[in-house]
Amino acid sequence: MSSIVIMGSQWGDEGKGKMTDYLAQDADMVVRFQGGNNAGHTITFNGNTYKLQLVPSGIFEPSKVNIIGNGVVVNPQALLKELQILKKAHVDTSNLKISSRAHLILPYHIQLDISQEKQRGKGKVGTTHNGIGPAYMDKAARIGIRMCDLLEKDTFAAKLKENLVQKNALFTKIYDEKPFDFDELFAQYYEYGQQLKPYVTDTSVLVNQALEKHQKVLFEGAQGVMLDLDHGTYPYVTSSNPIAGGALTGAGVGPQSLQRMVGICKVYSTRVGEGPFPTELKDETGDYIRQTAHEYGTVTGRPRRIGWFDAVAMRHAKRVSGMNCLSLNLLDILTGLKTIKICTAYELDGQKIDYYPASLKELERCRPVYEELPGWEENLTQMTKFEQLPENAQHFLKRIEEVTGLPLITVSVGPSREQTIILQDAWEE
Ligand code: GDP
Ligand code: IMO
Ligand code: MG
Repeated sequence: MSSIVIMGSQWGDEGKGKMTDYLAQDADMVVRFQGGNNAGHTITFNGNTYKLQLVPSGIFEPSKVNIIGNGVVVNPQALLKELQILKKAHVDTSNLKISSRAHLILPYHIQLDISQEKQRGKGKVGTTHNGIGPAYMDKAARIGIRMCDLLEKDTFAAKLKENLVQKNALFTKIYDEKPFDFDELFAQYYEYGQQLKPYVTDTSVLVNQALEKHQKVLFEGAQGVMLDLDHGTYPYVTSSNPIAGGALTGAGVGPQSLQRMVGICKVYSTRVGEGPFPTELKDETGDYIRQTAHEYGTVTGRPRRIGWFDAVAMRHAKRVSGMNCLSLNLLDILTGLKTIKICTAYELDGQKIDYYPASLKELERCRPVYEELPGWEENLTQMTKFEQLPENAQHFLKRIEEVTGLPLITVSVGPSREQTIILQDAWEE
């Protein structure tokens, strides 16, 4: 297998960082393909924990090339800060490459994100306030500023000036906010560009060269399928495509390049921000899981909403994303629960349905149909083989395979690299 796509199969925070870091040990290249610093990917090994937002999760393997692809929206200030933190931790970042085609997030995108959310009031999306949506808006409107533009003084000046005319009119006339000063922004961001210059290149050339040489390329998605702009719970989604298809446009490779599509998922569900969540647990079990797993947003610190495993959402995610196997995380968290529920179908207006409704009104009327499985008491965190797991845990895992129609390739029993049970080598044919 010379390529693997890692993608979130739920609403994000499924443990993509952990699995990317794990699989990167055998990869030659790791490529982030969408999203921006709305992502928070946690990696734990040798007793240290790192939280990455823009830098790919393969960065801890100094010999591997780590790429920020053209589909990522890059906040230069945030990226430089992240690089600084890594440098302090003695992590070598010299093998990082940034696409010259990646679009920038500038301070006015962040302000616009905040202003738009404020204006939506109760209907807010609950974004991370990192300017993600407005940056992708500008990209689609063909007024975005790319990494290559930032490096050309005249181009950057002209584009920034043009953008500020429009954005400042919005801030002063509609949102009652202060305008941005061109000189200040230009000087600060041109300087950031100069600091990032050594990393900037045509990354699609590098990825395609690696694939042609049959090197192992790991594509790292951010967010999750249920937050996908096209296939998620719109409008409560992010503004990019976390599905495997996003890796094609976001890394600049052809469809034949993608081989194994690994859906990363939790044994329960979580969601940060607003939006429908049919299996949500607003009770003690939800609180118990939140506390045990420390389910608080990596980026914003918000408590994550907790729900049971939702096989309807998973089958939807599988259908639209090309996912062909699962990496299941946080099994250890369920220890101590008497019973565990899996949602196998929804009931809508008295009818059992097996699809994920597009209409939010229909979704609101959906009632989850649950199957209840017996739990276990054993601590799983030191277990390294499937056979060591309690019988009920094994049964639970087999049911997940059955209800999703996807084989499990790994099961994770703790945040650390070593706490990973391998069922199949992801790189093997
Ligand atoms: P990502 O955004 O998909 O990379 O996931 P996050 O890093 O935002 O959230 C996943 C959280 O679960 C992190 O704190 C991980 O350290 C943690 N984690 C991952 N796998 C496991 C596991 O199997 N057990 C436990 N207890 N924690 C895990
Ligand atoms: P990782 O990669 C979980 C959510 C936000 C909000 C919605 C839109 O760590 O899994 P945005 O700032 O993207 O415009 O917010 O998407 N969201 C995430 N939730 N994990 C993430 O990333 C997320 N990135 C965005 O909470 O509901
Ligand atoms: Mg996260």
